[in-house]
Amino acid sequence: MRTLNHLFNNNHQWAARILDRDPRFFEKLSRQQAPRYVWIGCSDSRVPANDIVGLLPGELFVHRNVANLVIHTDLNCLAVLQYAVEVLRVEHVIVCGHYGCGGVRAALLNKRLGLIDNWLRHVQDVMHRHAALLEGLSDEEQRLDTLCELNVIEQVVNVAQTTVVQSAWDRGQDLEMHGWIYRVSDGLLHDLEVCAKSEAELQEHYRRACARYCLR
Ligand code: CO
Repeated sequence: MRTLNHLFNNNHQWAARILDRDPRFFEKLSRQQAPRYVWIGCSDSRVPANDIVGLLPGELFVHRNVANLVIHTDLNCLAVLQYAVEVLRVEHVIVCGHYGCGGVRAALLNKRLGLIDNWLRHVQDVMHRHAALLEGLSDEEQRLDTLCELNVIEQVVNVAQTTVVQSAWDRGQDLEMHGWIYRVSDGLLHDLEVCAKSEAELQEHYRRACARYCLR
C-alpha cells in the first residue's frame, strides 16, 4: 500500500503547472540536460538550491551534504564535480553555505551528535585555521556567522585545488568558482567575493577576503 500520498498529489500538481507554461517541457528535458552551473550546498531543508536561484529542472547540477564541504577524499563530491566539469561542461561552480548552519554550529560548540562529528571535524579544521580571528569575536552568533562564511571560502579553495578543476584550468576550459552565503531569515544570497577563473585569481581573492576579516 502506498503511503505519503500527499507527496504524489503535490507531484501531479507540480508537473501540471510546468506543462501549463510549456507543454513540451518534460519531453525536451528527457532528451538532454545542459546545466551551466554546479551547486555545492548544505543538506539543510531550508536551502533548496533550484528555488533560491530561480532555476528550472535541467539548469542546475546539484551536490549537497551537511555543511557544504568539499573534501579531497570524498569520492561522491569529486564524482559530481568531475561529471559536471568534464562531461556536462558546466561553466560555474557555486559553493553556497548559509547562516545559522546546524553543522557549523555543532562544530563550533564541539557538540557530540554521533557519527556526524567525524564529518564535522572538517569544519573544525577551518575553525582552527582561523582561530585567532574567531576568538576575537565576543558575540557567539557573530562567531557562528563568521565561521559559516569562512567555511564557504575554504571550500571554494578546496574545489579549486581538486585535480578536476586544476586540469580544467590547465586545458584552458572556462570555469569560474563562486562562494556564496544564504540567509534563511530573509531568503537572500550574498556573494563572499572569492570568484575566480584561475589559480592566481583565487589566491588573490582568498588573500583579500581574509584581510577583510582582519579589518572588521
Ligand atoms: Co547547514
